[in-house]
Amino acid sequence: MQIEKLLLVDFRSCAHVTLEPGPGINVLVGGNAQGKSTLLEAVYLLATSRSPRAGKDVELIRWGQEFATASVEVLREDRGEVGVEVSLSRTDRRVMRVNGVRRSRVADVVGQLNAVLFTAADLDIIRGEPSLRRRFLNLEISQVSPQYCHALLQYRRILEQRNRLLKSLRDHGGSAETLDAWSEQLVAVGARMMERRLAFTMDLGRHAQRIYREIAGSGEELNIHYLPSLPIEAGGDIASAFRSRLEEVRQEELARGITLVGPHRDDLGFQVKGVDVRVFGSQGQQRSVALSTKLAEVELMRERVGEAPVLLLDDAGAELDERRRERLFDTVRECCQTLVTCTDEAMLPAQIVRNAQRYRVEEGRVARGDDLMTHDDRVGQHR
Ligand SMILES: Nc1ncnc2c1ncn2[C@@H]1O[C@H](COP(=O)(O)OP(=O)(O)OP(=O)(O)O)[C@@H](O)[C@H]1O
Ligand SMILES: [Mg+2]
Repeated sequence: MQIEKLLLVDFRSCAHVTLEPGPGINVLVGGNAQGKSTLLEAVYLLATSRSPRAGKDVELIRWGQEFATASVEVLREDRGEVGVEVSLSRTDRRVMRVNGVRRSRVADVVGQLNAVLFTAADLDIIRGEPSLRRRFLNLEISQVSPQYCHALLQYRRILEQRNRLLKSLRDHGGSAETLDAWSEQLVAVGARMMERRLAFTMDLGRHAQRIYREIAGSGEELNIHYLPSLPIEAGGDIASAFRSRLEEVRQEELARGITLVGPHRDDLGFQVKGVDVRVFGSQGQQRSVALSTKLAEVELMRERVGEAPVLLLDDAGAELDERRRERLFDTVRECCQTLVTCTDEAMLPAQIVRNAQRYRVEEGRVARGDDLMTHDDRVGQHR
């Protein structure tokens, strides 16, 4: 699928912006704080109904204004042109429209446009705490599986109740009988989540491994492992394993007043050449792994939807050496419509920049950048 037109009105620093990106790579160049990330943020919001950084809608409205609008025209292979629009107001709830028709259910809007976004914050999936990796799993799997999303909400509720009971048993004593009932519910829902996480990680890992090899070159192998809080096997009986592990930790749970095993304690492991990238990886390796994981998501989405999503790369080339950068954009070039931001075109391979559509972003305005071509480019083109 392809974005044909993006229109922003009073969206963050952009008073009025129209962007008509081309089918391949589109480069958005500009200094710090000029509005580059804002453009990607708007696309992501239209695709997922969530902003990658704003907590509240009002943050997205240009200072001093009452309303903001973002809209896209998307060309899809399966259903032709689709228009998605979000209108934000300081006083009222947001209004979303698909092809001009108001839609109140988020599910009717999400997925009209598919987008995968990479920002520096995604490095935290690799570098940060396990909770960030669980969040990543939850977000990604929820997007492809409404059942998972439902199970996740149920699990949180059960876990909260079970923890409350454990705490009360620890502090005030009492019969532990009702604990078994909560444990059984925890196992039933938790085992389904773990099964889904295991399958997702295997699919993701398969694609990410191939892509990492393309970016980092041969000799570096990436492995992504699902690391549940109890030992499980693909095809094994996860519920039984979960149940017996709960039995084993029962006394400790009663003493500490907290649930010690289950999907809320899961983690993901990223290994390059057999060692943990989180602990031993260089900055460039960690970024390469994060990028490979995002590009693997593009592949998973392509498989599921039947056409490639739009890829949004916010300052993706930073920290990578020249060869990795070249290989990254070689991989991206063949993959899908891409919007990539940078503060300096020299950060991108010259060959890519030459063939890309280029835009300059300045003070919340966007201009086509053909006139930005350097002397060397022009000489190169006429050769
Ligand atoms: N609601 C708002 N109204 C007006 N301006 C805003 C609003 N929210 C953020 N801004 C401003 O928008 C500017 C552009 O931010 P943006 O993150 O898009 O910059 P950027 O070009 O990606 O910069 P960098 O290269 O530093 O990442 C910032 O200066 C920010 O303060
Ligand atoms: Mg930015």
